[in-house]
This record gives sequence, C-alpha cells and structure tokens, in this order.
Amino acid sequence: MEIPCPTLRNFSLLLFFALPVLVAAQTANISSGSLLVASDDSSPWHSPSKEFAFGFRPVGDQNLFLLAIWFDTIPDKTIVWYANEGKPAPEGSKLELGVDGQFTLTTPHGEEIWKPYSAVYKAAYAAMLNSGNFIIADNESNHIWESFRNPTDTILPTQIMERGGLLSSRLTENSYEKGRFQLRLLPEGKLVLNPIALPTEKAYDAYYISDTYDPANDTNSGFQLVFNESGYLYIVRRNGNIKNLTSGSISLPQDFYYRATLDVDGVFTQYAHPKSPTEGNIWVQSWTPVWFEPKDICSDIKGDLGGGVCGLNSYCTLQSNGRPNCQCLPGFSLLDQDDKLSGCKQDNVQRCDPTAPNPEELYEITVLSNLVWRTSANYEELQPSNEVNCRDACISDCNCVVAITYSGRCWKKKLPLSSGKVDISTYGKVFVKIPKANHTSRELPSSENINMKEDQATAVLVISILLGGSVFLNLLFMAASSIAFFCSYHKRQTLTEVSSILETNLRSFTFENLKKATEGFRDELGRGAFGTVYKGILSSPSSTTLIAVKKLDNLLQDGEKEFVAEARAIAMTHHKNLVRLLGFCDEGQQKLLVYEFMSNGTLASFLFGISRPDWNRRVQIAFGIARGLAYLHDECGTQIIHCDIKPQNILLDDSFTARISDFGLAKLIMNGQTRTLTAIRGTRGYVAPEWFRNMPITAKVDVYSFGVMLLEIVFCRKSLETERENEEEVILVDWVYDCYRYRRLEMLVENDEEAKIDMKRLERLVMVAIWCIQEDPSLRPSMKMVTQMLEGVVQVSVPPCPCPFSSFC
Ligand SMILES: *[C@@H]1O[C@H](CO)[C@@H](O)[C@H](O)[C@H]1NC(C)=O
Ligand SMILES: *[C@@H]1O[C@H](CO)[C@@H](O)[C@H](O)[C@H]1NC(C)=O
Ligand SMILES: *[C@@H]1O[C@H](CO)[C@@H](O)[C@H](O)[C@H]1NC(C)=O
Ligand SMILES: *[C@@H]1O[C@H](CO)[C@@H](O)[C@H](O)[C@H]1NC(C)=O
Ligand SMILES: *[C@@H]1O[C@H](CO)[C@@H](O)[C@H](O)[C@H]1NC(C)=O
Ligand SMILES: *[C@@H]1O[C@H](CO)[C@@H](O)[C@H](O)[C@H]1NC(C)=O
Repeated sequence: MEIPCPTLRNFSLLLFFALPVLVAAQTANISSGSLLVASDDSSPWHSPSKEFAFGFRPVGDQNLFLLAIWFDTIPDKTIVWYANEGKPAPEGSKLELGVDGQFTLTTPHGEEIWKPYSAVYKAAYAAMLNSGNFIIADNESNHIWESFRNPTDTILPTQIMERGGLLSSRLTENSYEKGRFQLRLLPEGKLVLNPIALPTEKAYDAYYISDTYDPANDTNSGFQLVFNESGYLYIVRRNGNIKNLTSGSISLPQDFYYRATLDVDGVFTQYAHPKSPTEGNIWVQSWTPVWFEPKDICSDIKGDLGGGVCGLNSYCTLQSNGRPNCQCLPGFSLLDQDDKLSGCKQDNVQRCDPTAPNPEELYEITVLSNLVWRTSANYEELQPSNEVNCRDACISDCNCVVAITYSGRCWKKKLPLSSGKVDISTYGKVFVKIPKANHTSRELPSSENINMKEDQATAVLVISILLGGSVFLNLLFMAASSIAFFCSYHKRQTLTEVSSILETNLRSFTFENLKKATEGFRDELGRGAFGTVYKGILSSPSSTTLIAVKKLDNLLQDGEKEFVAEARAIAMTHHKNLVRLLGFCDEGQQKLLVYEFMSNGTLASFLFGISRPDWNRRVQIAFGIARGLAYLHDECGTQIIHCDIKPQNILLDDSFTARISDFGLAKLIMNGQTRTLTAIRGTRGYVAPEWFRNMPITAKVDVYSFGVMLLEIVFCRKSLETERENEEEVILVDWVYDCYRYRRLEMLVENDEEAKIDMKRLERLVMVAIWCIQEDPSLRPSMKMVTQMLEGVVQVSVPPCPCPFSSFC
C-alpha cells in the first residue's frame, strides 16, 4: 500500500479554480427590441449556465401563462419567482424590452398588465444571471430592477433581503396568487412569520419571531436576511454578528441547488436538490428539506383571529416532517376541495327547533379524542359534569357544536371553531354534534379516534436515500440479505429456561386490525430483505400510538409454527437500543410484525443526508448501537446474531437514540438466491470475509459490519463511493487505514470542525473500528469489549492492518 493519504485540500483547490471560470462566462445580454410571447412553444431566456430560465410557464388548463423564473435543468422545473403577483396572462401576451427603454407585459389586445419600474428609467438591456437573478439595467449598467430585490415566495443563495423586505406564500400549490402567510424582516430588525387576512393583508400575530431585535441598541438588531453562496441562511446584525437560521452544517454546497421558500402551509423551509442525476440518469431525489421554521405550526399560530394554519372548523396534525396535515371535523367538508387549508363547512346546517320532541332524532354525536382547541370558541362551562351529561347538554343545546369533557368539567363550543389540533398528550372526550340530513339518519362511522393521515415525505426521503446509494452497494445489500439465512439463534441452555418464564406483553393482532391501522397499507416507510414496512396508528380510548408494521415475505414455507415462537423470542429482548416488538399477526400466509414507530428515520438517512449531523450525537449513536449489539450477543436469553448490520437497519427515535431493528428475523427468511454470493466474492461492504470462505459464522460477523458502520458514522460518508475521483478514496475502510497509518486522520475531517477539536476521541474510534474489521474473526474484539474500548474504559492498542494478506502491508 504505497498510496499516500490523498488530501481533500487538492480537491477544494480544484473547485476554487473552477469557480471563477463559471463566473466569468459571458452574460448573454437581452437587448432592446427583444420579445417573449406567451405560448406553449415559446423558448425562455436562459442564464449563461442554462440553470435558470426566465419566460412564460403554462398554468392551469385555460391557456394561461405565468411570467416566471425557474430552475431549468431539474425535472421539477421549480418556479422561484413570478411576475404580476402570480396572476397569469392569456395566451399571446407579449413581454417586450422596447427601444424606448420600457419593459412591459401586454395582453394580445395591447392592454398593459405588468410593468416592473417607473417610466422615468430607461433600460438598455436585461440579463438572466447564473445566480437566478433577473436584472434590467440602464446604459451605464446600473440595475434599474432585479428579481432578487422583488422576491415572491422564495429566496436563493446570494440573495439578500433588507429591512422591510417580504415574502408571501402562494395560495395553493398551483395558484400563485397571494396566500395566507407572510415572512417579513421588520424595520426594527426582527424576522417574523405571520398569517394575514385576505384581501387586506392585515398581519395577525406572528408565529415565528427571531431574537434579533434589541430595543435599547440598534447595532445589536438584525438588518439583513442573507442566503450566502454556500447555502447558509442567516440574519446579520448591524454590528456584523450573525444569527444562523440554517442549523447544522451544509456539507456539499457545490453539488446541490438550494432555495428557501415560504410554503403554502406557512412553513418557511430551506430545501436542497442534487444538481445532477445519479447513476443511470435517474433523479431519485427531489427537493429535500434542510431546515424549517416554525417547528410546530399547529401550535405556534396562536392569535385569536384567523382560522389557524388549517382554516376554520378543521384540525391540524403535526407530521414528523414538520408539516401540518389538515382535516375537517366529522360532518364537515372542505370549502375548496383543491385547497386543504381552505377550512371546512358543515354538511348539514344545524336547525334549531326547541319544539323538537327528541334531539336524538335531529343529531348524532361522534366521539373523538386527542383533540384540543384554543379556548376562544367556548361559550359555556359546566361543572361538575360527566361524560353522559356533557353529551346530553350539547345535544339539547341549539348553539352547541362541540363539547369537551375533561376531569369533571364540560365545555360547550360554538361555530366557527379555530385552531383545532391533535395533541396525543391530552385525554378527555370530544363530542361532535352532527345534524342529520332531514331526520333520515346517515350512517356515520362513530370512530373512537382520529385517523392521523401522515404525509409520505419522510418515507420518500428514506427510500430515496436507500435508492440513492450506488447500484453496486445495493447489489451488495441484496447479497448481504440473502446470506442472512444462515443466521440463527444460538441457544445458551441455562439462560433460555430463565427467559421463558418471563412474561412477554406481546399482542396478537388480526390482519383486519392492522389493515385498518395502516389505512390499507398505504404509507410505506421502507423495504428490506424481510418485507415492507408501513406506518400505522393504534388507537384506544385512552391513547394513540404510532406503529411500524412489517409485512414479512419470503418466509420459510414450513415456518408456520415457528413464526409465533420466533416472535416471542424477539419480544423477550428488552434493551433501550433495540426497537421494541409490540405484537404480531399470524393468519395463514399473512405474517406481520408490529413495532413501535421511530420518528427520526434510519441512520442512513441521518448520516448521508444533506447536512452533517453533529459530532457528539453521532458518537452517542455509535455507542448506543454497540451496547445494543453487545446485549444481543451476550446478555439476552438466547444469543442473537443480527447478520445484517448496516445503517439502513438502525433507526432513530424521538431523542435520536439508536435502535437496532430487524434482529432475530434472519432465521425466518427463505433460503433464496444464496448463489449470488459468488458474484461479490472479495468485495468489501458490510459483509464479513468469512461469508466468502468456508468458515463458521459467529457473532463476529456483526462485529465486522459494526466496524464498517462505525467509520461511516465517524466520517459521515458511505463505505463505498464509486463516484469518487481519487481511486484511493472509493473504499472508506482502505482510505481510513492509510490516513491512520500515516497519522493524517485530520485530512479526513477537514470540513468537520466539531470532530477536529475532538481528535483524540476520533482516533480512538478509528482504532476500534480497525480492530473490528480484521480479516481474522478471532482478532476482532467482542461487542462487549468494543463498548468498553469506545467508552475509554479499556486501552485500545495499535491495531494491525485489516488487509486480506498481512504480508502485503
Ligand atoms: C451588456 O450590455 C452592457 C451595456 O450595453 C455592456 O456594458 C455589457 O458589456 C454587455 N455585456 C455583455 C456580456 O455583452
Ligand atoms: C446614457 O443615457 C443618458 C441619456 O439617457 C446619457 O445622458 C448618457 O450620456 C448615456 N451614457 C452613456 C454611457 O452612454
Ligand atoms: C451598542 O452596543 C455596542 C456593542 O454591540 C456598543 O459598542 C455600543 O456602545 C452600544 N451603544 C449604545 C448607545 O449603548
Ligand atoms: C456562509 O455562511 C456560513 C455560516 O455563517 C459560513 O460558515 C460560510 O463561510 C459562509 N460562506 C461564504 C461563501 O461566505
Ligand atoms: C453559524 O453556523 C456556522 C456554520 O455552521 C458556524 O461556523 C458559526 O459559528 C455559526 N454562528 C453562530 C453565531 O452560531
Ligand atoms: C327536508 O325538509 C324540508 C323542510 O323541512 C322539506 O321541504 C324536504 O322535502 C325534506 N326532504 C326530504 C328528503 O325529506
């Protein structure tokens, strides 16, 4: 191994020289007399890099066109700016830079509909710049107008917003007119987000306020919102100090497009999008959120006026991706079917008939739970009260639409109801009174709970990152999974007896139960060797629990009896770094396992996402996984060899604690295409070399995989990156060992400030990892030993070379 440690410095130098070339590329001037016509086949004006386009985009299906700027090289062609407050122009409209120096958009009938600047200015030329800024300049190259100074709902890197600046959300995804939310940098220096009343645009109470306002001293107050070219968004104070909005660090600014958009739902979000497709010219990843504010829009919109984020008479569920999911109360439906934020109206208007003999004939009651409103719609409070008389009090009261009962009290609410939201921590019952259509009773599901429909974005993210790995890696994973068959429990007689006495709280579910809980297996979270995982929700009158349901396939045919036994064995394991099995379903061919839901996705998406997660958290995760594995190998009743340790099989819970998943399943999987093994002979992934040799499989295969993964955690990169320019960098394990040997580990963390100041610990982690990936299984430490070495309880000696033939080193 004569290869010296390749430096990242060379790489960044390259970039440094490449950049000015791009900048100096000719800006194509759009000269006087140029013209764009709104039609399906008009070609836009491009930036020199071709990345941005300025021109007409068809909207809706009525031959209308929006004058806009968009990202032109990505499939989404995402619009980042639009003219005329989002009002589209009819087909045949003309945009012209006249010889008189005026820039105007006119209809086919010659009617002027948009003009960006006053007639006292005379434009000489215009240009679509590589930054995404469209400029109009006079004969002395002074900018008369810039799209960057007149933003709509989005800002881009290199764009700056001064005090008084404003972004407006659009009305719906497809309608660009003013929506219900605003972002402003106020004259006193704070950045705020607030809902507005349409059409007057009165600002309601802010739901996000930056702490960049010092009433005593203006130099401490913010004066610019800056989106810098490396993809960081921050507020600059007058005294030059900054307040970061982008959290964490942006690792690869040169490979991604960024934008920050005040979305339709009022969430201000910074997104990243890869600049080029992955292998095979497929775009697997679209815009991915990097950061957003506010963190809980369902709760943070607090003012008395306005309908909250979801509009009146609806309720909001905060999804794990920070987005609100809006739903109408039972008996209500959306005002505008195409706009989930439009609020809801009652399907049958409540009639008030004091002479009605029996209110039960006029109304029915649906019982919900976990739902709260702000107090504003209460008009009566009964105390003492109980569920029965609260319900009765509402049904016989013409004004009552909803009643809530909670610890001996009962509140009646009237219409409209604003800012309803799901809050799993509340208990108590919610009665919704629904007028029947003309006494004829309509069948309404009297559900005891709320179906929280979760957005699929997180799942998509997880999957896209899974798919994003190289084809090669995926092949490797497939192979790794197919060999997992060999893994099984190694029973240690003495301990089994003890554990079989322990009671497991394993629930048995019917298939119908689980179908309902997952809304017909709608929301897919991921796919693995053992089957597909879906998100679901379990509700009981007292609680609501999110679950992950794994539908197993490829099971052993004769595994009928074994399945339940295996599930029980898995359920017997209890450790804070393992995903808990809550129950199972065993109905003929249908074999499902029910796990607790992990809100923060997989370790893979966490590590290989856009921004680098912080160092200490990564270290804690590595320690957690080691402890979980040590438990599986040595401390639980039956030894469990996982056989498929990789970042995709490590999940993160609410508090980012690492939780190992899929353990104990290897035994259940069918003996599939084990022959594919030969294809990967000699390649390094997470797969221990003994798989390729005629050697016994022991718990040390997990130690090997853990070692590879530990390096991925430490350096936040995949074990194989075939697209690397320097050949030495392709295989992480080799690269790290070289750098370690030449005492140049700091080269590997050049962009990681946090790791750089913790080099001692970093080196220890690397040494432990190198011990774990020794070719000879007997040289690898046990997981128990690994935990002690990681924590610094025992000294780590200098590891030998992990290469196949030691003489080679
Ligand atoms: C664009 O036009 C302005 C004014 O005529 C001129 O100063 C500038 O050099 C032109 N740029 C290019 C790249 O032609
Ligand atoms: C630009 O135009 C103004 C009149 O519109 C003229 O006075 C000025 O000299 C021009 N400047 C150049 C550099 O041509
Ligand atoms: C304002 O704060 C700056 C430090 O940020 C300080 O130097 C300056 O003296 C203060 N001005 C007043 C008027 O307090
Ligand atoms: C952008 O801002 C970040 C955070 O303040 C900073 O670390 C980085 O150096 C800046 N990049 C440029 C090109 O100014
Ligand atoms: C802002 O973020 C950058 C990059 O992560 C960091 O270097 C800088 O210290 C942060 N600044 C503040 C004031 O937090
Ligand atoms: C519903 O009630 C209205 C008024 O009471 C009556 O005119 C109408 O015929 C009724 N419709 C049905 C379907 O019973």
